[in-house]
Amino acid sequence: MKIMSIFGTRPEAIKMAPLIKLLEKEKGINSIVVVTGQHRTQLDQVLHIFNISPNYDLNIMKKGQTLESITNLVLTTLDPILKLEKPNIVLVHGDTTTSFAAALSAFYNQIPIGHVEAGLRTYNKYSPFPEEANRKLISALADFHFAPTNLSCENLLKENIKKENIKVTGNTALDTFEYTLSKNHTFNEPINIDETKKTILLTAHRRENLGKPLSNICEAVLQILEDFEDVHFVFPMHLNPSVREIILKHLAGNKRITLTEPLDILDMHNLLSKCYLCVTDSGGLQEEAPHLNVPVVVLREVTERPEGIGKTLILAGTEKENIVNTIKKLLTDNSLYEKMAKEPNPFGDGKASSRILEALNARK
Ligand code: UD1
Ligand code: UDP
Repeated sequence: MKIMSIFGTRPEAIKMAPLIKLLEKEKGINSIVVVTGQHRTQLDQVLHIFNISPNYDLNIMKKGQTLESITNLVLTTLDPILKLEKPNIVLVHGDTTTSFAAALSAFYNQIPIGHVEAGLRTYNKYSPFPEEANRKLISALADFHFAPTNLSCENLLKENIKKENIKVTGNTALDTFEYTLSKNHTFNEPINIDETKKTILLTAHRRENLGKPLSNICEAVLQILEDFEDVHFVFPMHLNPSVREIILKHLAGNKRITLTEPLDILDMHNLLSKCYLCVTDSGGLQEEAPHLNVPVVVLREVTERPEGIGKTLILAGTEKENIVNTIKKLLTDNSLYEKMAKEPNPFGDGKASSRILEALNARK
């Protein structure tokens, strides 16, 4: 059975890597990897760490790329590869534009599609944008749906997707820890963690947060530093120039904020394990932080991961006051902090990839 995994951005690569490592080893499976290169540096960091050498690299990333240009380039460059390789099944992940365009291209070639991380929903078309629409469109095209949780499975059932085509697997994000965590990790990036302080990991990159919301986030961080002397932020900056411009304008030069280049996943997971709190608009970090008993403050109005609300995460939105109050609460209310930190991870148990492999083997 020829299985073609197609992905292009950092989070897809991180979450597909443990599955690809299993597919590579599995007898009777010919694993083909196609990367679109929607991200270049941030994707290559992951490929390097997992020692994945793609069979095809569409290398589409352009500075200032748009949703239209990504979609267009994936469709036109992937089609000849699908026609040449004729895989038995194509695997796509999550909700990026690479994933949507790859699923569309596979559909046009009448190749069955497996969707990893299926069924996440906010039911708000523009939040996150364009991911909520991307994942719904992929669900409409996919043949096999690997839902991380019971809730994501229920979301798919409500859309009349047949139960026999859905498998609840857990999220592969948690499988990745097996490869990344280490007691004696040496950081590649110069991050000097001051053990006497509370380190807060901060990330922000969402399209809908560009502009005022991201400025609000930065101002909230400055306010927290003013109010709490024992806090230090580490902020790995996404390579999107529109994100970096705002961050640097507000936060550059502050000694209590370590601004870094994107961390590789080894640095990232080992840093997260030492943090007091994670403040983020990322999807993946909402799933990863609870694995390391780190509560999450989500910088969004809605989340497609409501399994964590009231347990492992708090939605703080993007208004300065609300962000400040939410972080303050977690810095001062010890019983709330402990309760959140001790919650079991609702997103998986680290065995999702083997469940997906089992389902794929059943189709041989
Ligand atoms: C994309 C995904 C988003 C995901 C995010 C993960 C879409 C529409 N969005 O958003 O769902 O959460 O990736 O990080 O698919 N850049 C580089 N080098 C890199 C990566 C990015 O220079 O390695 C810069 C480029 O200038 C690029 C810009 O970042 O134009 C934006 O990248 P893009 O993939 O278009 O959007 P993201 O916001 O990264
Ligand atoms: N991540 C990383 N280095 C960074 C920032 C994030 O390795 O500098 C990892 C993070 O641990 C998670 C994934 O990237 O596994 C999340 O990616 P991102 O936040 O870019 O996208 P999202 O999950 O929001 O789609």
